[in-house]
Amino acid sequence: MIKEIKKIGVLTSGGDAPGMNACIRAVVRTALHKGLQVTGIYHGYQGLIDANFKEMDTRSVSNIIQRGGTILKTARCLEFKTVEGRKQAYDNLKTAGIDALIVIGGDGTFTGANFFSKEFEVPIVGIPGTIDNDLYGSDYTIGYDTANNTVIEAIDKIRDTAASHERLFFVEVMGRDSGCIALNAGIAGGAEAILLPEKETAIDDLIHHLEDGAIKKKSSSIVIVAEGDQNGGAYYVAKKVKEKFNHYDTKVSILGHLQRGGAPTSFDRVLASRLGFAAVNEILAGNTRVTVGLRGNEIKTTPIEEAISNKEIKLSPDLLEMAEIL
Ligand code: F6P
Repeated sequence: MIKEIKKIGVLTSGGDAPGMNACIRAVVRTALHKGLQVTGIYHGYQGLIDANFKEMDTRSVSNIIQRGGTILKTARCLEFKTVEGRKQAYDNLKTAGIDALIVIGGDGTFTGANFFSKEFEVPIVGIPGTIDNDLYGSDYTIGYDTANNTVIEAIDKIRDTAASHERLFFVEVMGRDSGCIALNAGIAGGAEAILLPEKETAIDDLIHHLEDGAIKKKSSSIVIVAEGDQNGGAYYVAKKVKEKFNHYDTKVSILGHLQRGGAPTSFDRVLASRLGFAAVNEILAGNTRVTVGLRGNEIKTTPIEEAISNKEIKLSPDLLEMAEIL
């Protein structure tokens, strides 16, 4: 028999992403509107294990829609990967009277949710929140648009100094397993070349490409390297290129965690609000172990197992082909 849901818990887990706050706000206000109680769980799954809970009302989420980060804090929690950790988490949920969970995060978050929900039959709905945009089931994840805009702003600035000094810059962007930011920002930032985790780029081919540019009197260039690029990151690629091609003064710039911060774009705020709203409705409709996502312009659910296991690459073939040409 399906237990009536009276109280839900909400948490953010894994790497923070701009728009997570907008999503928490939507979850809390939608749930309250539908007559549910809401508990905020702090520091992701660690907060479940430590019973780091706080009851939320509509004012708890005032003035946060425009803020990056997550008011609920986040963590990458190793203890939740153990049966003992998850058992402790379940006992805490029961004591607090929390009947269902909404988890906002990436694939690590969903993997934990899947285990937990199966083991203890806790209804869970996942919301994709990560700047990496690497989750199946949603065209875009919360935070991806903002991160792209942050990266573009940085590339534009680097281009000014690269052009003034006639330098070659290797700019490293985030994405351990996903080249979404690199490809998108590389195209939007007019990069000379883009190195992705999903695709091998031979250093010699890159050098030929840069030589071609030098012959055509290109006085400066920007190469975007995803953090997880198969060659080993921007410093390594720059070193290897320099060994054989020394036409330009060469610099490396690692954009790092600044890509995860900042006010969410309008797109991310609306996406986050829609997904938060949808997640509460899915819980109330009795659905569990699903994620909510945007496909086309519609909100759709995906079984959480599929969202984790489907590694369909999100890099559109037309973008990949265009990046080679432009
Ligand atoms: O998952 C988002 C992400 O920013 C990745 O792009 C990056 O590889 C990773 O998190 C960095 O994680 P941390 O902040 O824990 O070092």
